[in-house]
Amino acid sequence: MNNEEIIQSLNEKLTSINDNNALNELRAQYLGKKGIVTELSKQMGSLSPEEKKELGKKLNEIKTNVTEAIDNKKKEIDERELNAKLESENIDITLPGTNIPMGAPNILENIIEEVEEVFMSMGYDVVDGPEVEEDKYNFELLNIPKGHPARDAQDTFYIEDESILLRSQTSPVQARTMLKAGGNTPIRMICPGKTYRRDADDATHSHQFMQIEGLLVDKNISLSDLKGTFDVIAKKLFGDDIKTRFRPSYYQFTEPSVETDISCFVCKGEGCSLCKNTGWITVSGAGMVHPNVLRNCGYDPNIWSGFAFGFGAERLAMLKYGINDIRTFYQTDLRESKPFDRREV
Ligand code: DAH
Repeated sequence: MNNEEIIQSLNEKLTSINDNNALNELRAQYLGKKGIVTELSKQMGSLSPEEKKELGKKLNEIKTNVTEAIDNKKKEIDERELNAKLESENIDITLPGTNIPMGAPNILENIIEEVEEVFMSMGYDVVDGPEVEEDKYNFELLNIPKGHPARDAQDTFYIEDESILLRSQTSPVQARTMLKAGGNTPIRMICPGKTYRRDADDATHSHQFMQIEGLLVDKNISLSDLKGTFDVIAKKLFGDDIKTRFRPSYYQFTEPSVETDISCFVCKGEGCSLCKNTGWITVSGAGMVHPNVLRNCGYDPNIWSGFAFGFGAERLAMLKYGINDIRTFYQTDLRESKPFDRREV
């Protein structure tokens, strides 16, 4: 068979081939170890050098032509298969999508993040502390001596004996932070976290709730620094027209101690049910760090002074979002948290 004859018979065979399996078989018939081209080359042995050269040339030509014809067919088959596949997998882009329900961050997480952002912009660190705490940090170092009513077993979850407990406030992180700082560097920190008290759950009480503790220690700090700081956070959270005021109060770890109030953002001070007709809403406890606490935690009160505060995170969120039941935060009902999802804004 000469070149033309081989190609002609190949082309005839190719017309009836429609898939890659059959094509591979045909490829083997022509180009495989026992294929036609190999068979032809076996004649080489009995030829003169001149004839060998001639046959070599011819075989190369045949090989090239056969390869080309088979490759072209392969392209054709691949293309046809791809088109068939695309056609069968045709996507109807006019169909409505599948709605994958997404969770939403808890409302408390939102408010805590908001508070963190404001304080971080004023150079505060956000720190963490243990929820299972030692009496020493939760009470002793904070100037709450043995026998004080705040330590009452009715209020505090004690674990095993009375030296280990679930922290009843985030204030122990003040003590931990001061002790860690070593008594010779200024401190600016806030600590949001869970706290526990033996309260029966109702609309305004929860056995577990969140506080946001704050502590600033430096030289020459006065109550007016606390007032200025509180003013910033109140305006950021509740609006620029909010006024603030301090009322005297009592905490063991601050002296003087205050309750911090904001003017009622609903009635603007006129008097309404939210502010119980006083025009003011209490949002945190605060005060100047008691000299005993500074001393207990390694800071010389003759050199250092500071202020501290404690917000109830649920209370902030309840006020800001008009929620009237603290249990809302712990029921993980998406209908409650969805509207406050800041990711969707
Ligand atoms: N720990 C207090 C509480 O649970 C709140 C508080 C009041 C924290 C005054 C403070 C503070 O840091 O200075 O009621």
